Order: sequence, then C-alpha cells, then structure tokens
Amino acid sequence: MQALVESINKLKKEKKAVILAHCYQPVEIDLVADYVGDSLYLSQVAAKTDAEIIIFAGVYFMAQTAKILSPDKKVILPQIDAGCRMADMIDYNQLLEFKAKNPGIPTVCYVNSTAEVKSECDLCCTSSNAVKVVASLNTDKILFLPDTYLGKWVEKQLGNVEVITYPGFCPTHLQIRPDDIEAARNTYPEALVLAHPECHMSVSEMADYVGSTTGIMNFAKNSDNKSFIIATEQGVVDRLKRDYPDKEFIPVKNNIVCPNMKMTSLEDILKVLEDESNEIFVDENIVQKAVKCIDRMLEVSK
Ligand code: 13P
Ligand code: SF4
Repeated sequence: MQALVESINKLKKEKKAVILAHCYQPVEIDLVADYVGDSLYLSQVAAKTDAEIIIFAGVYFMAQTAKILSPDKKVILPQIDAGCRMADMIDYNQLLEFKAKNPGIPTVCYVNSTAEVKSECDLCCTSSNAVKVVASLNTDKILFLPDTYLGKWVEKQLGNVEVITYPGFCPTHLQIRPDDIEAARNTYPEALVLAHPECHMSVSEMADYVGSTTGIMNFAKNSDNKSFIIATEQGVVDRLKRDYPDKEFIPVKNNIVCPNMKMTSLEDILKVLEDESNEIFVDENIVQKAVKCIDRMLEVSK
C-alpha cells in the first residue's frame, strides 16, 4: 500500500491535481486525499481550488457539483458508476411534475441531486446548512427534494415553515430503526447518540444530537462525553476511531454502509491519475442554471 500511496502522491504533484474525499469513502483514501470532509466543505474547496485536475473520491453528484463550480477544471470521478441512490430517485421530469402539483412555491434541492434537477431549483443545500438555507428564503412554505427526512427535520427545527417534501430517501440511513437505537442505548447507557438527518424522523427524534457528517465529528471532538453511538455511515465511525483514540465510538448497527461510496480504491485513483479517464462533463446550459442555486447556497453558508 505504501508504494501505491507514493505513486499517487508523486503523480498528483506532477499533474497539479488535488484529491477530495468524502468521509464515507474507505478510510485508506485519506492517505492520499488533500481534503477530507462533508459535502458542503468539499464543494467549498472545489469552488476555490487552483489545481488543474480535481479527483473527487465520492459519488457522481459530488463530482458533477465540483464541475459546475469549476467548469474550467478537469474533474474526475475514480469510479464512474458510483452514483447516489437518493439522487437517482428524482429526475428532471419528476421534478417538473412535483413543481406543477405545488405551483408558485420556492424549491430547495439537497445537493444529493442531479445537475438537471439543480438547474430547475431556486436554492441548493447540504445537510450542514439546510436549516440556514431554508430560513434565508423568508417564506412560510417550500418544496424540498429529494430527501423527505432531511426536509421534515428542517421543518421541525424552524417551526415556522411548511416543508412539502418529495418522497426520496437514503437507503443506507433508512436501515437504522428506533429498535437499533434502543438496543445500542441499553448496551451502552453512558453513550450519546449522534445521528445524521437523513435518518428516519423516528430515529432523529431519539438522538442526543442530529447533524451532518462534519457536525457529528465536531460534536464528538468537543464533547466531554467519552462514548458515542454513531447513527450514520461506517466511514464516519472509522475516522472518529482513528482521530480520537481515547474515546469510544459504537456503530449503531453493523453494516451501515453506502455501497457506492465504498467503490473507490487507491488503485482506481492511481489509474485515473495516469490516464485521466472518467472525466465529468455537464452541458453548458445546465451549468449556467445550476450554478446559480449552488452559488446562492455557498453565499448563505459563509
Ligand atoms: P453530508 O456530507 O452533508 O453529511 O451528507 C451525507 C451524504 O449522504 C452524502 O451523500
Ligand atoms: Fe446517497 Fe445515501 Fe450514499 Fe449519501 S449515503 S451517497 S445519500 S445513497
């Protein structure tokens, strides 16, 4: 593995490439990553980087968002089939139908959506800034897609905005059920439960803290508590264990894994660095429309 890491790091420098990795990636990807974080952080990095090539160790919509934000850069996804099962739940026509059924209401899309879908929405958000983004609209009603659970969680946090949600969801987070939280709490009564807002409402309601990947990691870092039950993807558990060895991190149940996030390997990264394959392209008309809703999000998140 050391030789592989060295080859990647050497080539990365020669080609002025930068490697961005989402926290759900296999943990060894961090050995070559320049930036590791959640969706918001990585899109902020993608918008600002002066690298010539962006290798996005993540899923398709993330690389597509990076391309929209940095259209002059070469953006590469190491595994071209790594999609997001939630993003795939709504396409352009389904969005138009959803909007037609609920006319005249501002539309907010989760960043986990396609470029075409973003191009027809008013504002984009990630799980770290969803509440702030929706509040920034100063309205009493919004349409939210694709994630119904993130949308409903935002509605609950704000209390004064009706959030009409599209019935999309994350199959990975929905595997976590209230019984799992109860069982983990019975075994580890001292542990705090930290959950991602993509979880079912019945799970989020039981948690001590609900937040994005970075939110969960920061909470665990800053808390005086010593043990935590983690109700999100395994990659977060792996990084917390590595970064805070004095604390205890318990996955809420086994195998809470996003299969697409786990497709990337160090070998794939070396290959795409060598042959520059798997480049992401987005239609120019779509870029021009989609960038507005992403830029507005980045502005609100400052
Ligand atoms: P965040 O990176 O915003 O926590 O989102 C999690 C996720 O599911 C990414 O696809
Ligand atoms: Fe999509 Fe869920 Fe995987 Fe995130 S964890 S990339 S929302 S399928």
